[in-house]
Amino acid sequence: MQIPNPHSENTASTLTHLECSMTGERYEADQIWNLSPSAQRPLLARYDLPKAAQTLTRESLTNRRRDLWRYEEVLPVRRRENIIALGEGWTPLVHAERLGTQIGCAQTLIKDESPNPTGSFKARGQAVAVSRAKELGVTSLAIPSAGNAGGAMSAYAAAAGIPAHVFMPADVPLAFRAECNAFGANLTLVNGLINDCGAKVREGAQTHGWFDVSTLKEPYRLEGKKTMGYELAEQLDWTLPDVIIYPAGGGTGLIGLWKAFQEMEELGLLPRGMKRPRMVCVQSTGCAPIIKAFHEGNEHAPLWEGAKTIADGLRVPVAVGDFLMIRAIKESGGTALAVSDEDMITYSNMIARTTGIFPAPEGGACLAAQVELLEQGWIRPDESVVLFNTGTGLKYAHLWG
Ligand SMILES: Cc1ncc(COP(=O)(O)O)c(C=O)c1O
Repeated sequence: MQIPNPHSENTASTLTHLECSMTGERYEADQIWNLSPSAQRPLLARYDLPKAAQTLTRESLTNRRRDLWRYEEVLPVRRRENIIALGEGWTPLVHAERLGTQIGCAQTLIKDESPNPTGSFKARGQAVAVSRAKELGVTSLAIPSAGNAGGAMSAYAAAAGIPAHVFMPADVPLAFRAECNAFGANLTLVNGLINDCGAKVREGAQTHGWFDVSTLKEPYRLEGKKTMGYELAEQLDWTLPDVIIYPAGGGTGLIGLWKAFQEMEELGLLPRGMKRPRMVCVQSTGCAPIIKAFHEGNEHAPLWEGAKTIADGLRVPVAVGDFLMIRAIKESGGTALAVSDEDMITYSNMIARTTGIFPAPEGGACLAAQVELLEQGWIRPDESVVLFNTGTGLKYAHLWG
């Protein structure tokens, strides 16, 4: 059998440049960057959207590949041979009817990210980041990870044949460590949290020349994550829900969704000036820097001391993209709230027992927030709400065992 050869072809990427999210300064796209050199803030990928709009249309999407690469005009990889695809994206959007009836909000939907490779939405970011790193000639990758991102990077690095260095808190659950080991990554356990792991990665980047793939310190994980927004609109037949509830750590998903909605308007995939969802950011009461900063009216969130939660993905005490998250929440008319670990388990069970999805506690956190906001009257029972289940509960089996 002849396998079709996708190599030696340009993609339809319309990437033009990178832009500093703080100052708007422009940077050359085909060089390796981390944070913007002057402001030390995230760089955002920008595209020739009028050109992309010529081919990225609602009609053209109907018969494209069923993974995130279907949106290639607004992704950064320029050559097909550099795409490392393991089946990431195009995840189910489930209408959770029994759950909706139980909580009194009929239009409750779950964007279920657990079927992604390595069991979480982190695969989206890593698929695009590692593919682009390969394209730009990167020879070793390093990442600080609260859990899922390290496993996802290890998988894509293995597929690309690029050495991977992963730094995780020493107390992360076994499944996260096992995954990195299986993929042949160099795993280092650090006594501390993800920010302490980040310091180790910076040291290694300086000493050994590793490329630092930390959340938002590398421009393209965000591009992979934003495809959740494109998919959501497409799966809802080019409408958007009233409310999106998202469990935020470093914030790439939340920021990515907002970026997707802006791009889709410019592409003509969504009508201009369309009412966008109110974005709800959820964290744990044991680590809630963004919630605190949002309610205090600040754009920047200082380090949260003594961060502790069962939701490993939310154990992120400080985020370089804090102001981008807070701006997206505010611009959308959204809100931010923290939920307890106990509630995360209670509501993870409710999701599992009414939908058949075994969610990560981060997914349970979204439902806990929805119930709280329904009680407050902030969400009305007739509104449509999308919860993001960002990963599989299987990686947190110890919580149920
Ligand atoms: C399951 C899960 N949910 C949510 C998050 C937070 O993700 P983000 O960086 O998009 O805020 C993580 C991050 O590790 C995660 O693993």
